[in-house]
Amino acid sequence: METIAIQDKIFKRSIAASEIQSMVTDIAARMNYDLEGDDVVFVAILNGAFMFASDLIRKIKVNCRITFLKLASYQGSNSTGIIKQLIGLNEVLKDKTVVIVEDIVDTGITLDTVLRQIESFQPKEIKVAALLFKPDVYTFSHRIDYVGFNIPNEFVVGYGLDYNGYGRNLEHIYTITD
Ligand code: IMP
Repeated sequence: METIAIQDKIFKRSIAASEIQSMVTDIAARMNYDLEGDDVVFVAILNGAFMFASDLIRKIKVNCRITFLKLASYQGSNSTGIIKQLIGLNEVLKDKTVVIVEDIVDTGITLDTVLRQIESFQPKEIKVAALLFKPDVYTFSHRIDYVGFNIPNEFVVGYGLDYNGYGRNLEHIYTITD
């Protein structure tokens, strides 16, 4: 079992780059079928989704544009705790088919925030793609149209995902060990 150290933690390899690549090919093929004839805008959520989005978009054959969104979270003074704001959505989304591209959906708070904002631009349709999904901790009911891998509630790094900013460059996905 290949393990790596990032700062104070040890991670073991859990999804090989080859498995990721064939899953991305699979998702792209489904999108090419589902979205044929649509005017599509992919909205990739930074930072984590940059690698997934980059591999995915190269396999997309339908008429499309891609834009990037960054979320800034900070501790708010009200009881709801974390407040997230979007930075950078200036594409025209009205009447377009929007595909949100996420690295991972965990609790779903990020996705919920993004969906609300995108809905306000009155797109024709919104679809959601997430390379990784933790179904055990998901607290929302929004459908995720394209899921790469369902994973347990364990912290992962690699392929865009980070631990304290490190590990995004790794081609495989690694899971934290105890
Ligand atoms: P959510 O809002 O709880 O769904 O979390 C989504 C965001 O948290 C992701 O876009 C990631 O940036 C981060 N995140 C959640 N789980 C992990 C993980 O296991 N490793 C690295 N980042 C994670």
